[in-house]
Amino acid sequence: MASRLIAKSLESTVKLNDGVVIPLFGLGVYLIDNNCTDVVAAAINQGYRLIDTAELYGNEHGVGNGIKESGKKREDIFVVSKWWPSSEGAKRALQTLDHCLNSLQSNYIDLYLLHAPQGGHCAEAYRALLEAKKQGKIRSVGVSNFGVIHLEALAKLGLEKPSVNQIELHPWQQKQDIVKYCREHDITVMGYSPLAKGQKIQDKTINEIANKLSKTPAQILIRWSVQHGYITIPKTSQKSRLQTNADVFDWSIPDEDMKVLDALGDKPWSCTWNPTNNSLREAGLQ
Ligand SMILES: NC(=O)c1ccc[n+]([C@@H]2O[C@H](COP(=O)([O-])OP(=O)(O)OC[C@H]3O[C@@H](n4cnc5c(N)ncnc54)[C@H](OP(=O)(O)O)[C@@H]3O)[C@@H](O)[C@H]2O)c1
Ligand SMILES: *[C@@H]1O[C@H](CO)[C@@H](O)[C@H](O)[C@H]1NC(C)=O
Ligand SMILES: *[C@@H]1O[C@H](CO)[C@@H](O)[C@H](O)[C@H]1NC(C)=O
Repeated sequence: MASRLIAKSLESTVKLNDGVVIPLFGLGVYLIDNNCTDVVAAAINQGYRLIDTAELYGNEHGVGNGIKESGKKREDIFVVSKWWPSSEGAKRALQTLDHCLNSLQSNYIDLYLLHAPQGGHCAEAYRALLEAKKQGKIRSVGVSNFGVIHLEALAKLGLEKPSVNQIELHPWQQKQDIVKYCREHDITVMGYSPLAKGQKIQDKTINEIANKLSKTPAQILIRWSVQHGYITIPKTSQKSRLQTNADVFDWSIPDEDMKVLDALGDKPWSCTWNPTNNSLREAGLQ
């Protein structure tokens, strides 16, 4: 069973199934563009230790610069990025990885994910990334947006387990079948869009609980994810929010309110794409 640790501070970590140690909390940088360097440096200076980027976000360079600007050592920061699986397959995955390392100005990345089960070449690309791991370019290889069928397919192909599956997780998108499978198979769950992209900040239930606990709606959503033991990566480009979004460790949501939040999942709603139901053929995992 994968351990289900609840972060106690920005520096709390968990050990992945390959022995790599990962922070349980971090900053997502999707849609942070011009000032990615400033935002990343500010986050690190406030104590954030994990940054989640992707080829798709076009800001790996800004992340690399932000780490430099923060004055922290590269090895003190955990960087996650993702390859956008395309019809071009393994060769393209390795080129993209090299480009990522160049942009980060680093000779390794901590965690590299297949962004989604798509593009028709995931098995082949995954094998190539495991080779790159042997060469030291990647410390840990994982996946994102994988449904149970995709995780089962990797196992059936005799491929090493991914260390992490990064999926959309907030009270309206709980993906319990995927979480259960991951926990039973020692794959660590990382949740994305913990704030439902800011689209539920006005939600009545969230605001009632926020008022009751004297917290902000964003803090309730972030704490819900932390308290479920998911690695949690809220995005913000605002300095003040970097601080309040990370102020979720010295209090908790009482069980009765967690039950109310969990019940919101009875009417699933997604704030983004959902490739977790792609066919094995679309994924290239047959
Ligand atoms: N693997 C995947 O397919 C995938 C998909 C989606 C996301 N992700 C990752 O997960 C990260 C987080 O998800 P996300 O960016 O989709 O959305 P999110 O973190 O759920 O929400 C971000 C939005 O909420 C706003 N926000 C942040 N803090 C707030 C606060 N305290 N009060 C009110 N609004 C607040 C942000 O605006 P401001 O910037 O103005 O604060 C932004 O508009 C991404 O950045 C990315 O790293 C991965
Ligand atoms: C980054 O840019 C956004 C949007 O232009 C701005 O609102 C924000 O304050 C900037 N953040 C930092 C840390 O400079
Ligand atoms: C996606 O797959 C899950 C099982 O993992 C299922 O519960 C859900 O209904 C499917 N959604 C769609 C839109 O097919």
